[in-house]
Amino acid sequence: MSAERQIGTVRTASYEADPAEVVRVLLLYSGGLDTSVMLKWIQDQYDAEVVCLTVNLGQPGEDYEVIEGKALKLGALECHVVDAREEFAREYICPAIRANALYGGGYPLFTALGRPLIAKLAVEYARRSGCDTIAHGCTGKGNDQVRIEATVATLAPELKVIAPVRSWEMGREEEIAYAREHGIPVKGGTEAAPYSIDDNLWGRSSEGRWIEDLSHAPDEDVFQLVTPPRHAPDEPQLVEVEFERGVPVALDGERLPIVELLERTAEIGARHGIGIVDHIEDRIVGLKVRDIYEVPAAAIILPAHQELERLVGTIHQNQFKPGLENQWSFLVYAGLWWEPLRGDLDAFMERVNERVTGTIGLELYKGHARVITRSSPNAVYDAALASFSESGGLFSQTASPGFIELWSLQSRMAWRLRNEQGSR
Ligand code: ARG
Repeated sequence: MSAERQIGTVRTASYEADPAEVVRVLLLYSGGLDTSVMLKWIQDQYDAEVVCLTVNLGQPGEDYEVIEGKALKLGALECHVVDAREEFAREYICPAIRANALYGGGYPLFTALGRPLIAKLAVEYARRSGCDTIAHGCTGKGNDQVRIEATVATLAPELKVIAPVRSWEMGREEEIAYAREHGIPVKGGTEAAPYSIDDNLWGRSSEGRWIEDLSHAPDEDVFQLVTPPRHAPDEPQLVEVEFERGVPVALDGERLPIVELLERTAEIGARHGIGIVDHIEDRIVGLKVRDIYEVPAAAIILPAHQELERLVGTIHQNQFKPGLENQWSFLVYAGLWWEPLRGDLDAFMERVNERVTGTIGLELYKGHARVITRSSPNAVYDAALASFSESGGLFSQTASPGFIELWSLQSRMAWRLRNEQGSR
């Protein structure tokens, strides 16, 4: 394969790097096979220096010292490890909670929320380390390339981008051979390709292997976070989530910092089999794919938040908000985090959530999280009014027939018109 083809001299977009001008690259480094091969490959093919950046968004089971050591051993000039969990939770997950954000009815957007933050940090560290180019490990078929490159192109028009996996045309076998040749440690050897995983504080996704076969029911080895419901405890557990202004602040009466609250909620949910989503998804690049999601924290917090909002909002607010939530979720899914409309929508979400304070109790049992108790000082609810027995006061039952007469007037007129016309 010619070097020209490998490093992709054919450039389509204005922000793609001209190989001749690449001097120092900021590589988004995970420590996995793709980005480790990239680390060597960029040094070789571009004759460029590489600075690595690894971002901690709460993905479980990572050893950042090992990742950093590996990067330096493979020739990185420096390797920065950034713990961005707090910022991720506050500035990305909390707005998603206020927006009850789900894409396609089931995906709580954890990857889509993480990418703009990762790319924003890449821009910061690239500038700080004198890099001219940012490299990432996305393929050409996914949404993540859109999210990362749209962010870089928006925030840093002076920086260029390379996406080696998209251009080098190496299969897994070739990558492993390249790794062996260049002294890159390969975990797991050459057996079948593993699932493609992405995870953070807000969830975990698996793609690839049998997941691509739509008629294949989930093999249990895919579930590394959530206990399959049938193995979950036989005793239900009650969990209480307290919110202030639409954001969770306490769990079972204990106030917790947001990162810890999300982690602890995930742990409890995972134990009870909560948050498994087998999802068919419309990618922004035109493909339809299947993802297996494990989202134990989101599957508890989102329904709890939504319930509290329903209690505090009026019928009109409750009718109107889902349309904007959909729009918010779509923008975020589609990689347009920095689009001003997202900020406009956030302003609306924040305003509505000013009164979303209170506590929701859920029963967790074998894969289900069911709301069973609610309380809020701002509930637009009056048990006396709602009761079937005595009401009076604000509500006059004798007014109901008059209301029904006017409320149904246009529908009745239209019905009559159509039926008279139909009989002629
Ligand atoms: N389908 C999800 C999304 O587009 C998850 C993608 C997971 N990313 C990955 N690199 N495996 O947001």
